[in-house]
Amino acid sequence: MVKPQSSVWHPYTQMSEWDSFTKIVKGQGMWLVDSNGNKMLDGVASMWCNVWGHSKKELIYAIKKQSEKIAHSSLFNLTNDQAELLAKKLVNISPHMHKVFYSDDGSTAMEVSFKIALQYWQNKGEKAKSQFATLQNGYHGDTFGAMSVGYVPGFFSKFKDQLYKTIQIPFANSYRLPNNTTPAEHQNQCLGKIEKLFSNNDKIAAFVMESGAQMAGGVNIYQDGFQGKISSLCKKHGVLLILDEIATGFGRLGSLVEYVSQNSRPDIVSYGKMLTGGYITMAATLASKNIYDSFLGKYSDMRHIYHGHTFTGNPLSCAVANENLDLYKKTNLIKKIQKTSKVFEKRTQEIMDLKAVGDIRHKGMLMGIELVRDRRKKTPISFKKSTNKVIFDEAKKNGIYLRTLGNIVMLVPPLAISESELNYLIDGTIRTIKNVTE
Ligand SMILES: Cc1ncc(COP(=O)(O)O)c(C=O)c1O
Repeated sequence: MVKPQSSVWHPYTQMSEWDSFTKIVKGQGMWLVDSNGNKMLDGVASMWCNVWGHSKKELIYAIKKQSEKIAHSSLFNLTNDQAELLAKKLVNISPHMHKVFYSDDGSTAMEVSFKIALQYWQNKGEKAKSQFATLQNGYHGDTFGAMSVGYVPGFFSKFKDQLYKTIQIPFANSYRLPNNTTPAEHQNQCLGKIEKLFSNNDKIAAFVMESGAQMAGGVNIYQDGFQGKISSLCKKHGVLLILDEIATGFGRLGSLVEYVSQNSRPDIVSYGKMLTGGYITMAATLASKNIYDSFLGKYSDMRHIYHGHTFTGNPLSCAVANENLDLYKKTNLIKKIQKTSKVFEKRTQEIMDLKAVGDIRHKGMLMGIELVRDRRKKTPISFKKSTNKVIFDEAKKNGIYLRTLGNIVMLVPPLAISESELNYLIDGTIRTIKNVTE
């Protein structure tokens, strides 16, 4: 345990609720081990990024081997083998993408995608195209641009006045649809609104959305065809499509590249989190040839990209990402995920039978369990302390690590988790919910 005299300030945390924090000293496969030797199964893949579990020897070796050569050199005027190789691999797995711009984390990857889109239109001589449209409750990170586009009111209302204006298409969670509409009807209405917007407004630079599902905005999984139709509307009306696959790509929803399985075609797409297997921070923004070509010209034209970070293309991150991608192929991970995720399906009813569970939303290796006080009214559950703290404490007693999203218990395990470990996670989750609500 870390004593209160710790100098660390924890993210999205009311510090006064915590007397101490469990100190993790090592990881063994799917398990986190604390300083007292207690083990917890990592139920949130260390914030949705871990793929193989902890201490995966191939990934450690990739980092070690690269660090013996050089830990960091820059992409400013230089290049390195690992960054070159990774860009090739990413372009190969991402249809219609042509170039890769590296950054440090998901939020910055999204900032890069916004800047590329705005500058693309300037490079084309269409300066008026400068607005972003998006779905309500999308989330793209915590920096100012990301908060402006991915505006989750519960997270960002305090900064509202400082955010730039974006157009938010009303889009409700499938559990809380207005006027008794079905999810399919609601999403059709939403498509109608997008079409109307695109027809009446020629200033829209890009439509921005998470690919496959909204995660932080409440685990809202799209209906089949929804994303594909948005993609077609963008093409029809000359609006760029920016997709965010930071949380949902690389296998989380059961496909390597989610936009492919959604029959959609982005102009710009970002990857993060699982890109390095969850071992070192890194993200990437990919752009189509059409986008990239608009940045070419004489130096004096000033069309080149105006963005770069100290660690852009860091060789250690690229080396571990390269090994990670090789492992996906070697182990046929996506097939394995599709099989393992059936465990979630088999056990859905059992979780739904718990009195406090109002709804379950699941796809691939993601399950959101919505806790309610009253099923009929769908009132979110609440406790004296934050729901997250209450669930975390109880989950720990049950040998699992959980972090909730408000009243939603998130099961987002490392992708390579075994069926028996996933059952352990679900058993622990059921006990945890029961113990704190019944
Ligand atoms: C969809 C999505 N985009 C962007 C981000 C931001 O990534 P990061 O936390 O690495 O900045 C997240 C983080 O959870 C995310 O879920």
